[in-house]
Amino acid sequence: MMNESNTMQAIRYHAYGGPEQLVLERVPRPELKPGTVLVRVKAAGVNPWDWKLRTGAYRQFMPIDFPYTPGIELAGVIEEIGPEVSGFGRGQAVYGSASGTNAEYAVAPASSLAPKPAALTFDQAAAVPVGATTAWRALFDAAGLQAGQRLLIQGAAGGVGSFGVQLARWRGAHVIGTASAKNLDFVRSLGAEEVIDYQATPVERAVRDVDVVLDTVGGDVGERSLQVLRPGGILVTIAGQPSEEKAQARGVRAAGVGPSDPARTGELLRQIGDLIDSGQIKVQITNVFPLAEAGQAHALSQSGHGRGRIVLHVAD
Ligand SMILES: NC(=O)c1ccc[n+]([C@@H]2O[C@H](COP(=O)([O-])OP(=O)(O)OC[C@H]3O[C@@H](n4cnc5c(N)ncnc54)[C@H](OP(=O)(O)O)[C@@H]3O)[C@@H](O)[C@H]2O)c1
Repeated sequence: MMNESNTMQAIRYHAYGGPEQLVLERVPRPELKPGTVLVRVKAAGVNPWDWKLRTGAYRQFMPIDFPYTPGIELAGVIEEIGPEVSGFGRGQAVYGSASGTNAEYAVAPASSLAPKPAALTFDQAAAVPVGATTAWRALFDAAGLQAGQRLLIQGAAGGVGSFGVQLARWRGAHVIGTASAKNLDFVRSLGAEEVIDYQATPVERAVRDVDVVLDTVGGDVGERSLQVLRPGGILVTIAGQPSEEKAQARGVRAAGVGPSDPARTGELLRQIGDLIDSGQIKVQITNVFPLAEAGQAHALSQSGHGRGRIVLHVAD
């Protein structure tokens, strides 16, 4: 029987479509499995992945069962611990990756969680997991970024780019970031030494001889970025597949970033949390919506222009 103690409010959609498909409904709470914990969600980040999945763009390779609750990252408090989980306790504040986080409760693999950085509110912590771990994997795993190297980040103000700028500066790289005029000061405040308004200046005319490009925009932005690399340099894109043939023709390399490994996410978030708590990485959120307004949050994310991550505030 459905009652207050075994149900929750959750955003769901019953068919592919626009943001209006997102509705707030009372549904059963998700069930624990071995290796997972039940998290009382306080906040959930909104990622481009969420609205792309909702439109049906990924239906060929990732079909979903309806009704579907969106959301792939959260911050909250552990309510219950499943079998085969160690290192976490009930009532502990955590952040990390999970499915169906646009809800009052979500089940998360324990390996995808880490203690919430003490310096952050829950809203801020929910803005970190996907952006920061993607930037880490792209810069350090795929590109092998080293101290002293020159890096161009296309889309430096976004949910991934804003962490990319800070992680690269922490590593000791020289960072050049692109953004629209309204976000240039923000990108500079994150530590970028040079900023370029991509709407005013073609980046390939303003930049040259970089060791690494992180492309978070995709399409022709990635392809034009090949021109700014030094011979042997590398373009890493997180938005689509780069053309390895075109890169080879220019004497440079191109790589994508594979799917994240849930078993490694928690470990990365512990390292990133330490950087946050020691003040080396800052988290800025500019748009917070209540859970019931997930549709507006999706629409804003879908506009493709913004600063940092959009967050759904689920509970105080
Ligand atoms: N492979 C993976 O594992 C992975 C993981 C996360 C994300 N992604 C993908 O990566 C992309 C970016 O994600 P995100 O979360 O960072 O998105 P986001 O938070 O929506 O940020 C997008 C940013 O791109 C900037 N931008 C738009 N057009 C630009 C252009 N022509 N040149 C330079 N900057 C431009 C915007 O800045 P302005 O407002 O200043 O225009 C905005 O700050 C998405 O396609 C997402 O699906 C992939």
